[in-house]
Amino acid sequence: MSSPPIIARTVGALRHAVDDYRTRKATIALVPTMGALHDGHVSLVRLAKRRARRVIVSIFVNPTQFGPTEDYGAYPRTWKADIATLTAEAVDIVWCPDVKTMYPDDFATRIVPEGPATAGLEDRFRPHFFSGVATVVGKLFAQCRPDIAIFGEKDFQQLRVLAQMVRDLDLGVRVIGSKIVRERDGLALSSRNVYLSPEQRRVAPELFRAMKEAAARLRAGDDISAALASGTKIIRRAGFAPDYFEVRHAETLAPVHSTRDGKLRILVAARLGKTRLIDNMAV
Ligand code: PAJ
Repeated sequence: MSSPPIIARTVGALRHAVDDYRTRKATIALVPTMGALHDGHVSLVRLAKRRARRVIVSIFVNPTQFGPTEDYGAYPRTWKADIATLTAEAVDIVWCPDVKTMYPDDFATRIVPEGPATAGLEDRFRPHFFSGVATVVGKLFAQCRPDIAIFGEKDFQQLRVLAQMVRDLDLGVRVIGSKIVRERDGLALSSRNVYLSPEQRRVAPELFRAMKEAAARLRAGDDISAALASGTKIIRRAGFAPDYFEVRHAETLAPVHSTRDGKLRILVAARLGKTRLIDNMAV
């Protein structure tokens, strides 16, 4: 049985532990999360353990990245199970500030990312999302002072936005992307999957199947608009209301006109009832 992690709730307590690691020249990895941990998060923690001597996992349901009509209040909070998971994974610190610690009443600074953050994907449907994410991750980096930070490819645009932010602001943190963890039927693990009814859960893997089919068509040299139209049709038939089903340049997220335009990525967001699912796949 590993010793339980330090549970830090104030910047002072966190700094105390982090300063000690830094004095001992231990490399530090940060895994930012909003809790409701699943095997996707655990895969990031395991990658962090392989890459650094010390691992900090933050749990903070960040209000500034939710729109006014989104699920901030309903977002699953599974504190006890999360701590048990992180104890079993032998994490060193769990950083779990409350909202007032992160955003005191006189808080007045925001990071507003551009480039991949204005690619016309998530940003088109969640206009406040990336400034909320960039601001909170900027704060988490300043608080935890990690050498590396691990993010999932599951949120592919988010990963690109944060890698760009680190470069643009010279934050000196190495951003590492980690592969998407899926259920056996292809559905990407997500804290929001608990919102799905049994019937919705049954059809949800169609999202994966549609991307797989579109990727195969693109690899075979099929026309881009035909491949995307057929993918969109698959998910509509399954009962999804798509926000987007697109193929973009994998690095810049810029639109592509030909399958020879470099490394490509299919990105999709679609609503199944009230639940919004996102996923992506390399071509
Ligand atoms: P959250 O949705 O909790 O995700 C935390 C990290 O886990 C993200 O980097 C996300 O991409 C990764 N992740 C989620 N599902 C995954 C899966 N199936 N496979 C691999 N990785 C997966 O993303 C956020 O929180 C927030 O926006 C955050 C970055 C913490 C800022 O508030």
